[in-house]
Amino acid sequence: MTPRFTPGQLHVHSGLNDMVATARALRAVGRKIALVPTMGALHDGHRQLMRTARRLPGCVLATSIFVNSLQFGPNEDYDRYPRPLDDDLKVCEEERVELVFTPSREEMYPGGPEITIDPGPLGGELEGASRPGHFAGVLTVVAKLFTIIRPDYAVFGEKDYQQLTLIRKLERDLNLDVRIIGVPVVRDADGLARSSRNAYLSDDQRSAAVTLSGALAAGARVSAGGAEVVLESARAVLDKEPLVDVDYLELRGADLGPAPERGEARLLVAARVGTTRLIDNTAVFLGQGED
Ligand code: PAF
Repeated sequence: MTPRFTPGQLHVHSGLNDMVATARALRAVGRKIALVPTMGALHDGHRQLMRTARRLPGCVLATSIFVNSLQFGPNEDYDRYPRPLDDDLKVCEEERVELVFTPSREEMYPGGPEITIDPGPLGGELEGASRPGHFAGVLTVVAKLFTIIRPDYAVFGEKDYQQLTLIRKLERDLNLDVRIIGVPVVRDADGLARSSRNAYLSDDQRSAAVTLSGALAAGARVSAGGAEVVLESARAVLDKEPLVDVDYLELRGADLGPAPERGEARLLVAARVGTTRLIDNTAVFLGQGED
């Protein structure tokens, strides 16, 4: 039996079959679905994704909350990853989400899984170099969510720029027929990019973490000088903060291929602050003024 759907109300489905049935029933009456996939611990960055999705015409706003074991390495924070489901559902209600999918690990991965999605060469670079298997885990769960919910639109943050880039490639290469929408990074007033992992930072670490966005801004400010100047300026800012242990600082093309000599590029940074790994990125327009 298809669960009842009342427009404007919050419906929470933990069962995969209920989710499939509701999505199918909505499609049958001509409704479109805009999906915001998340791992919960919802913050202002997620609210921004939801608001973007809500503005898409004629769409039911759907969110998934699932801490995807498949994208965590053996020494990563899967067990300690925050899971404040009641608070998350309040955020969903406030943001007028109508459909929330909260599947269990058993229901999402009954067979392990045995089949996963290969993210290609980019999956082994940048984040993928220090997190083997991470993007195979992300793309596998995203492909599953797309298959279960069959959204018309899916909204992701530019904060995880490599993830967004790979999801666009996934959609293109597997002809998934979902419009992928990227939303600019949401930052605290001092520039720190919003992340569920910021909750792990002590006060000192929180102050040091601002260096990441400071370095990106310093690089972007001198973009007219070209790639080398951008990287030197950003590196100089990072080098001044002993609590920040840089994993990579890289300048790439907008599609994460090699950076062009002139035109749009992406400056990306990853660093450990204490035991917490943080990432950030910004658009840089090489060989041109910032404006
Ligand atoms: O960005 C995230 O929160 C996750 O990587 C995603 C896309 C929900 C997949 O688990």
